[in-house]
Amino acid sequence: MADEFVKVASLSDIPPGDMVSVTVGADEVLLVNLDGDLHACDDICSHAYANLSEGDLEEGEIVCPLHGAVFDVASGRPVTPPATEALRKFAIRVDGDDVMVGPVIAADD
Ligand code: FES
Repeated sequence: MADEFVKVASLSDIPPGDMVSVTVGADEVLLVNLDGDLHACDDICSHAYANLSEGDLEEGEIVCPLHGAVFDVASGRPVTPPATEALRKFAIRVDGDDVMVGPVIAADD
């Protein structure tokens, strides 16, 4: 993905406690609104292939719908197995009602 910010959604599309999957270039990115704090991470689970946007969001954590790994949204890190690798986090910016996603900002495991 280029080092540019791309508008992917409107702020009103992602109310607090909600999450939305968007496509940015070749990446499927999950936008999560944690009490007004927006985060962007991989929508595809780091364990196998499942869309985390189809899982559950519970108290700042996402539960993978396929095998149940839990990820911390703020860090992207897995909290429980079977996932062991962190999700990539993307830079996110809000300008008025525009939600924009930028480059990867963290990729640790
Ligand atoms: S695909 Fe997510 S835990 Fe296996």
